[in-house]
Amino acid sequence: MRTGDQNIFTFYLPTKIVHGVNSLQKTGEEFKNLGATKALIVTDKGVKGAGLVDGVLESLKKNGIPYVVFDEVEEDPGGTTVGKGAEVCSKEKCDGIVVIGGGSPICAGRGIGVVVANGGKIGDYVGLNKASKPPLPLIAIPTTAGSGAEVSQFIVLKDEERHTKTVVGSPMYFPKVAILDPMVLKRLSFWQSVVSGIDALSHAIEAYFTNMTTPITDALALSAINLIYNNLRAASTSEDLEAKEACLVGSSMANMACGNARLGLTHAMTNPMEGMFKIPHGVAIGTLLPYVMEFNLTASYQRFAVLAKNLGESDIGKSIEDLAPRAITAIKRLLADLRFPRKYSDSQIDRKIIPQMAKMIMEGMYGVYDPKKEYPINAIVPSTNIRKATMKEVIDLYEKAFEGWEI
Ligand SMILES: [Fe+2]
Repeated sequence: MRTGDQNIFTFYLPTKIVHGVNSLQKTGEEFKNLGATKALIVTDKGVKGAGLVDGVLESLKKNGIPYVVFDEVEEDPGGTTVGKGAEVCSKEKCDGIVVIGGGSPICAGRGIGVVVANGGKIGDYVGLNKASKPPLPLIAIPTTAGSGAEVSQFIVLKDEERHTKTVVGSPMYFPKVAILDPMVLKRLSFWQSVVSGIDALSHAIEAYFTNMTTPITDALALSAINLIYNNLRAASTSEDLEAKEACLVGSSMANMACGNARLGLTHAMTNPMEGMFKIPHGVAIGTLLPYVMEFNLTASYQRFAVLAKNLGESDIGKSIEDLAPRAITAIKRLLADLRFPRKYSDSQIDRKIIPQMAKMIMEGMYGVYDPKKEYPINAIVPSTNIRKATMKEVIDLYEKAFEGWEI
């Protein structure tokens, strides 16, 4: 039984979710409902080049809303891009934001809204609840079924000095509206669809194995896992709009779960990898996921057994101990079907850096490693992960992820 402050839970989701085929057409109407009069469209060149912004602009025009397009968001943006966007937004006197893109534009767009409303630069608001005024009202339209940033209070940006990630968070930063239109996923390649889908799946799985779960987050996590697990194969290999919508809704639900129950070791351990070795987020996550699940198994056979049943495994005649590992096998089967790498390679990561990466996560998932500090090898790595890990165990897990797994 969790006691004291740990026994008091909050679940908060103020984002209105509009979803369905061609729901993008609702953008103008939703923007008007927010009481805003001129839109800054935040996106990246790839999304714009693919013609996905056109539907948004058409809907705004239909509703008589003027707009300006800012398409300079790069992969993994930091304060510089947010500053540039905020300058355009202020100069053009936009009073609302529409973001269309993956996690990078959605986080950059939300950062722009914070800076325009509060002044200064995004670096002034790193941490929790640092801004005093609500950001500009914002509509988020995800073009991948992955990050879940459209229903998140956390803005994740690159720390341009330390090459790691930084978080700007407040309940004020939830987008006002998220529009989930599976039509925009049609342009994704097989691999883009796979890596974003596996990232979302990991958000849900990690959220199910933390020490902050509640019945509400469990329901969201299990449903999200179910939706993504059963639809990602079809969503990434065909034009099946139902499967794509299931993955899109699943990825939002996964973020609602992890936004409250938090994430575990998979995201904590891949964070330094992405910054130091430029491994794409979803690739780093999906490669590590089975290893972390195996590490967590002994901490909760009961939960793993529930997950196995949720993934379609039969429990007839099986003990909890028999059923539980089948959840990991099912996830491995999915990864194998999607041709996901089963290990890290030495060309991706310099293994000499592993102890340093383990030290880097000592300050928490998005924290900053202090190189002057000596961390003992038996120190517990801070994480909400269901099984506490020592630094030595984290190092061993990194090493294990170079060996490969079998089904
Ligand atoms: Fe992620």
